[in-house]
Amino acid sequence: MMKIAVLSGAGVSAESGIKTFRDGNGLWENHDIMEVASPEGFKRNPALVLDFYNQRRRQLQTVTPNSAYIALAELEKYHDVTIITQNVDDLHERAGSTDVIHLHGELLKARSTVDETLILEWKDDLNIGDCCENNHQLRPHIVWFGEMVPMIEVAAEIIEDADAIIIVGTSMQVYPAAGLIQYAKPDAQVYFIDPNPSINPNKKITVYAEKASTGVPKVVEILAGMS
Ligand code: APR
Repeated sequence: MMKIAVLSGAGVSAESGIKTFRDGNGLWENHDIMEVASPEGFKRNPALVLDFYNQRRRQLQTVTPNSAYIALAELEKYHDVTIITQNVDDLHERAGSTDVIHLHGELLKARSTVDETLILEWKDDLNIGDCCENNHQLRPHIVWFGEMVPMIEVAAEIIEDADAIIIVGTSMQVYPAAGLIQYAKPDAQVYFIDPNPSINPNKKITVYAEKASTGVPKVVEILAGMS
C-alpha cells in the first residue's frame, strides 16, 4: 500500500459547475477577489462579503461531485490517500474521501470574528447579527488573502511522506499551497492534471493536459495497479 497525497484546486470542481478563480478574467463570480476574500474587504463591506459566501453556499447545495472526485475516493480502496485541497467546498467529502485537509477553510463552517478557535457547522445563510455564544459576529471559516494558513505544516509533512502525489486543478499561483510540491521526496512520482498545465513534465512529473474528469480516473487506474 502506497502513501498518496493529492493537492487539489478549483479546477477539480469546475466540471461540477463551480467557477474557478483565475479562468474568468481575474474575477470570482464578477467580484474582485480582494473585495470578497480579504479581511480588508470584510471590514469595508461585511454585508457584501457575507452575501457573496451565502451565494457560494447556496450554489454548493445544487452541485454534485464529478468523476474526478469519485475516482479519488475509490483510490482509498488501494492506498493510503490524503487529500490536501485549496477548495472550500465539500465535494471531496461528498464523493467519499475520508481524509481531507482544507488549507483555505470550509464554506460550510463559520467562526467567531473574535475567537478564531470558535468554529461552527454552518449550512445556511450567514448574516450580520449572527453571533457566536460570546455574542461576537460570525464570519465565514475561510482563509482570506493575507491570513495565516494553519494547516500548511501538516500538509508539508504529508507531501514529504508521500510515495506518489496527484496535483489536479490548480494554477499553482497562490502560496504557501503552491510551494508544497517542493517537499516531494526525490523518488516520489508526481501526476499533474490540468487542461492548461502550469508546470513542465520531467522524469518525476507526468503531465496530463486534460480535464480532471478524464485525467484523474486515468491516474487512479495506474496507481490502483501498483502495490
Ligand atoms: N479540470 C482540471 N483543471 C481545470 C479544469 C478542469 N475541468 N478547468 C480549469 N482547470 C484548471 C485551470 O487551468 C487552472 O490551472 O484549474 C486551475 C484553476 O486555477 P485557479 O482558478 O487559480 O484556482 P486555484 O489554483 O485553486 O486557486 C488557488 O487562490 O483565489 C485563491 O484561495 C483561492 O484556493 C484558491 C487559490
